[in-house]
Amino acid sequence: PRVAVVFGGRSSEHAISCVTAGSVLAAIDGDRYDVVPIGIATDGRWVLESGDPERLRLDGAGALPSVDGDRSPVALARVEHGTDLVVSAPSRPPETLGEVDVVFPVLHGPWGEDGTIQGMLEMAGVRYVGAGVLASAVSMDKAYMKVVLAAAGLPVLPSITVSTRAWAADPDDVRRRADEIGYPLFVKPARGGSSIGISKVRDAAGLDAGLALAFEHDPKALLEVSAEGAREVECGVLQALDGSAETSVPAEIRITGDHEFYDFDAKYLPQEATALDVPAVLPDGVEAEMRELAVQAFEAVGGEGLARVDFFVMPDGSLVVNEINTMPGFTPLSMYPQMWAATGVDYPTLVDRLLQLALQ
Ligand code: DAL
Ligand code: MG
Repeated sequence: PRVAVVFGGRSSEHAISCVTAGSVLAAIDGDRYDVVPIGIATDGRWVLESGDPERLRLDGAGALPSVDGDRSPVALARVEHGTDLVVSAPSRPPETLGEVDVVFPVLHGPWGEDGTIQGMLEMAGVRYVGAGVLASAVSMDKAYMKVVLAAAGLPVLPSITVSTRAWAADPDDVRRRADEIGYPLFVKPARGGSSIGISKVRDAAGLDAGLALAFEHDPKALLEVSAEGAREVECGVLQALDGSAETSVPAEIRITGDHEFYDFDAKYLPQEATALDVPAVLPDGVEAEMRELAVQAFEAVGGEGLARVDFFVMPDGSLVVNEINTMPGFTPLSMYPQMWAATGVDYPTLVDRLLQLALQ
């Protein structure tokens, strides 16, 4: 089968998508799949990428890779229901790159992990890896994600949603509601990822700066109670070929050094001291409960293919769902593939399973 690996994209997680794509491209079995690497530049242009995993790595100095928007542009030559996707490179002789059987949208954040490209592929009748339109959209938007998770009976932290409009119209009301949920709190762009735009605010004096930062990324932000003293533990979900949701062993993130939380640098810069315990060492019963809740969260949003469900283990041992990610990073430093490796599913098998699921 022909696989279009689509990566990069217009979101702030462009670089992380490139790094994940580098790993995915290196892991796809070239004897079984014919790969078409397609990059989406930060300005939205689609180009035929080199597919050379070496170009898509994080280097030791922490430089971030990106799609080269000057490469040969590609276009979807035919978007017609029930046909395979045809990509062509119009700047070159009108040779098409061939039909594609399945798209692997290795994209994080808005315009990729949020149902938009999924909707385009649905319209074209093209199969793709991962969550569909609704699950992607709900899981991308932390405000709606919480509504859906809470409605399914899953434990979530108290939060309030603040739009730029509400903040401009009545900041005192926002301050009053923030006081109600209490400090310290986290300010998060509603539709972000990789902790970009997130800050921890200790008191009312920090609210302006926190909201200003979040609003740089999204006109909608969340103020969320900080789970003080909680442990951050994540769990992978992967569908089996029969459609059932399987879970990985959970793993814990321990932030060392001077990071207040699992921020962007702690996540991706190799020299940063973040310890990952794979698997996590958890009190009796907590692992089983977490794996059960991870499946419930996956079902609650209507997930498909894969997801990573992020939890807080509260000081009293109770569990709270922080969020669900429908296209978790799987850079070499990322949790998702490490958790699956510890569960007995190695990286190439993981990628192959996702492609097989999509091709069914
Ligand atoms: N948003 C990043 C890629 C993650 O969830 O891993
Ligand atoms: Mg996320």
